[in-house]
Amino acid sequence: MRIDIISVMPGLLESPFSHSILKRAQDKGLLEVKVHHLRDYSTYKHGQVDDYQFGGGAGMVMMVEPLVNAIESLQKEVTYDEIIYLTPDGHTLDQKIANNLSLKGNLLMICGHYKGIDERIREQFVTMEISIGDYVLSGGELAAAVLVDAIGRLIPGVLNDETSALFDSFQDNLLAPPVYTRPEEFRGWKVPGVLLSGDHRKIEEWRYEQALKRTKERRPDIL
Ligand code: ADE
Repeated sequence: MRIDIISVMPGLLESPFSHSILKRAQDKGLLEVKVHHLRDYSTYKHGQVDDYQFGGGAGMVMMVEPLVNAIESLQKEVTYDEIIYLTPDGHTLDQKIANNLSLKGNLLMICGHYKGIDERIREQFVTMEISIGDYVLSGGELAAAVLVDAIGRLIPGVLNDETSALFDSFQDNLLAPPVYTRPEEFRGWKVPGVLLSGDHRKIEEWRYEQALKRTKERRPDIL
């Protein structure tokens, strides 16, 4: 999968993809992430990319022309399955959206800043609008990083143990059960005996019960 990201603050996206699972995905050739500086596509003085909004009001709006230049120049290299705009008024990201996007070939993400992007870009180019939650960030970059992470780890072949994503929280509308590792006892705090029993059927039953209990207590809305 190739993911291109258009940003006015590319520095914010320098390191999130260079560690851990996303790094491995790129090293294995399963994922390629390219960040593009919107200023490089500006034809205005001093690389201007934003301007005052028509109708008045505080806050700048990202201009049509640099964005069109950036999108159309990238479209000459790649055909995108989705052009995604990260915005607080988009669809709230969930595991289902991440699962669907992880099966796509090429994605383009546009990070908004200031008051957002000129509506004509949303009408003419954007195919999906995604929010990462009901709060406002200072720009779309951190939201894009979250989205790339959520998608990247699900790309087939990225996780070592293919099954581990299947047991993530939210994957079956259930939160994940509690987990423990060595030692079996620390300061008298014991690991539940069933996990040490070697009885895999009992262990699976226990995990399912715990996941259900946790979901009922914390997130009954997803059940
Ligand atoms: N840009 C600003 N806030 C955002 C959010 N919550 N989700 C996605 N993009 C954003």
